Amino acid sequence: MKRVSLEFREGLTFDDVLLVPKRSDITSRIQTDLNTRLSRNLSLNIPLISANMDTVTESGMAVAMARYGGIGIIHRFLTVKEQVDEVLKVKRSGSIMIENPYTVGPDQTVGSAIDYARDRDVSGLLVVSGGRLIGIMTERDTAFELNRSSLVRDVMTKDVVTADPGIAMKDAKQILYQNRIEKLPLVDASGRVRGLITSKDIRNTEDYPHASKDKKGRPLVGAAVGVKGDFMERTEALLDAGADTIVVDIAHGHSENAIRAVGHIKKGFPDCELIAGNVATAGGAEDLIGAGVDAVKVGVGSGSICITRVITGSGVPQLTAVMDCAKVGRDHDIPIISDGGTRTSGDATKALAAGASTVMMGSILGGTDETPGTVLTKNGKQFKVYRGMASLAASLGRKTKEGDVSPDDDLNDYVAEGVEAMVSYRGSVKDILRQMTGGIRSGLSYCGAHSIRQMQQNAEFVKISRAGFAESQPHDVSVM
Ligand code: XMP
Repeated sequence: MKRVSLEFREGLTFDDVLLVPKRSDITSRIQTDLNTRLSRNLSLNIPLISANMDTVTESGMAVAMARYGGIGIIHRFLTVKEQVDEVLKVKRSGSIMIENPYTVGPDQTVGSAIDYARDRDVSGLLVVSGGRLIGIMTERDTAFELNRSSLVRDVMTKDVVTADPGIAMKDAKQILYQNRIEKLPLVDASGRVRGLITSKDIRNTEDYPHASKDKKGRPLVGAAVGVKGDFMERTEALLDAGADTIVVDIAHGHSENAIRAVGHIKKGFPDCELIAGNVATAGGAEDLIGAGVDAVKVGVGSGSICITRVITGSGVPQLTAVMDCAKVGRDHDIPIISDGGTRTSGDATKALAAGASTVMMGSILGGTDETPGTVLTKNGKQFKVYRGMASLAASLGRKTKEGDVSPDDDLNDYVAEGVEAMVSYRGSVKDILRQMTGGIRSGLSYCGAHSIRQMQQNAEFVKISRAGFAESQPHDVSVM
């Protein structure tokens, strides 16, 4: 009979180590380069990803992450249609030219058109009849006299300024400016709509020069799927909507289910840039890579809202997990994502130095304007909800959506592996990303590295004692 091994390996996490400072020729942290690989064929300008959690990433967060050079992964606790709509919202925001602008018919009521536009977060609709553009309805047309039952044809602007589909951006800008208009439909010789350029999108591309973009200039976005049920249809719909990467998301990624799902997706959609996880061992990374993934997501029980280690006794401290998986990743040239347990830019720097190419974040981004959910007030302080995807509330929410709950269900049968929490309201995610990237840049400089890759080659960790950890915190002062 095989016995349990009594040999214990050491598992370390962020607070157990520090990076040893190295001679540096960097005079300003701006000189450092945060460009990195997300997956086999996708790159980012900063190594940060927002987690596929229902209190972190829907379109609002994904748009912000892409604007600042990272990426957001839309969570999967949505119907397929809802998730696809979130991907479409991201793809439409900030693209240089919208390929399939939303349209309405002239005989629709103004009320139904306004609802349609609001649901899709757009401020105007092109009016099309018999396949041809006949007008445009924007907020200006309905701002002063809103009669929801009147017809679109009665309120729309009929004299629409249009341009050829092949127009150069500088010429489009000129037309928008000269005519003092916000939207420029692109129309072919037969009057059919071929695209839309808006001044808002032009401003966005100018305001966010480091945004991560696809080949068509649209923001990058990813979307999560499971390993059972509708995961193949979901993947197809998300790829059709323009998702740049699909993330197979399961708590125990080193499972037959996950390996099988990865194989199916790769077989059905060979061009799909596929990420899968979560695993915490070299064997887990090896098996997912063997199944065909383009990046491996690493972290079991490290997340701030996770209780997997408490409930199951399973997991590997995050730094050791990243180091073990990164070695396998290097052998196969497949990037590693460190997911969970990142509380500071120092933690993120350590994860990158340990071999991760990117860092996925949940709690750091929780409580910002861009997360789903409303701001709540308790004892005069403002909060937002942040919860584990395996918490009771999140799981019940998903089951309800899938029509999979009944009054006979016994809640005691459900073993949660995540908790629900409140995090302080923190305003825009922009400031958090600025702090994170600034800290990582400084971290590179302390390692004498100009880039993440160089840091991974130069990095030297030192294991610290409890006293060393205490010394690393502010001490012997009252912090204001
Ligand atoms: P942070 O520390 O950034 O972690 O808040 C976010 C990551 O935590 C994982 N996650 C969970 N893990 N039970 C778990 O054991 C859960 O309910 C749960 N929800 C999220 C996930 O990997 C996420 O990116």
